[in-house]
Amino acid sequence: MDVVTTIAEVRSATAAARAGGATVGFVLTMGYLHEGHVSLMAAARAECDLVAASIFVNPLQFGAGEDLDAYPRDLPRDLALAEAAGVDLVFAPSVEEMYPRPILTTVAVDDVTARFEGATRPTHFAGVATVVAKLFSIMGPGRTYFGEKDWQQVCVVRRMAADLSFPVEVVACPTRREPDGLARSSRNVYLSAEERAAAPVLHRALRHGAARIEAGERDPAAVEAAMAEVVATEPLVLLDYAAAVEADTLVSPARLEGEVRLLVAARVGTPRLLDNVGVTVPA
Ligand code: PAF
Repeated sequence: MDVVTTIAEVRSATAAARAGGATVGFVLTMGYLHEGHVSLMAAARAECDLVAASIFVNPLQFGAGEDLDAYPRDLPRDLALAEAAGVDLVFAPSVEEMYPRPILTTVAVDDVTARFEGATRPTHFAGVATVVAKLFSIMGPGRTYFGEKDWQQVCVVRRMAADLSFPVEVVACPTRREPDGLARSSRNVYLSAEERAAAPVLHRALRHGAARIEAGERDPAAVEAAMAEVVATEPLVLLDYAAAVEADTLVSPARLEGEVRLLVAARVGTPRLLDNVGVTVPA
């Protein structure tokens, strides 16, 4: 596995692979890899000739007072995990390499960013869309792999790639879970033992919402209230939102139909956790 830190080096490695006819598969990460990232790398390995991954904690997507400085980092461990997952090329740039001077050009994706995480973290998705667009432009992937756990991010990246005509297929891979249902996330390390025990209530709430839809409920407000009731059974968990929305646009429909996404976000002690599931509502 090659590890490079400059844009020039990684560009020349991916350009050479493309010139030789290879499909470049790309997994973007902020490091502190867990099973979720490894599953994205494995999916890329199964489908692409050259598997590239980036490890970069992107300051643009953290708001003032968020956990940028405290964000967990462990590059040697990340490199060992990436190599074991079959990654060929890791791009691990410094902040100075990515942003040598204050960035004046950013990518803003409207509408789909206005709700949910975008409402709580107003600058977050512009930071994500900007670094993802920059990394697509540097790496030139044919396929890129994102975790469904950050469903709104998947919607934002898909829309940005389509609107800006990046020739890349955005593949969404299933959320990896702990045996008790908690979605794997780098931020789970912040949970105390008590908070960790309470956190699976998010997944229980989603399962309950999905079961209500499967039992015939088509009113989004009723499904949302049912999910909120489950979250309220855990005193350590403070619900931010529980929503039943159209999967692609994240718009709240008058009646649930087609591809629906159930989303929850809650503070579990200090950490804020997200989770979601998809439900297909038969016509
Ligand atoms: O999901 C993440 O870890 C980040 O938002 C991403 C896509 C690597 C961009 O920094």
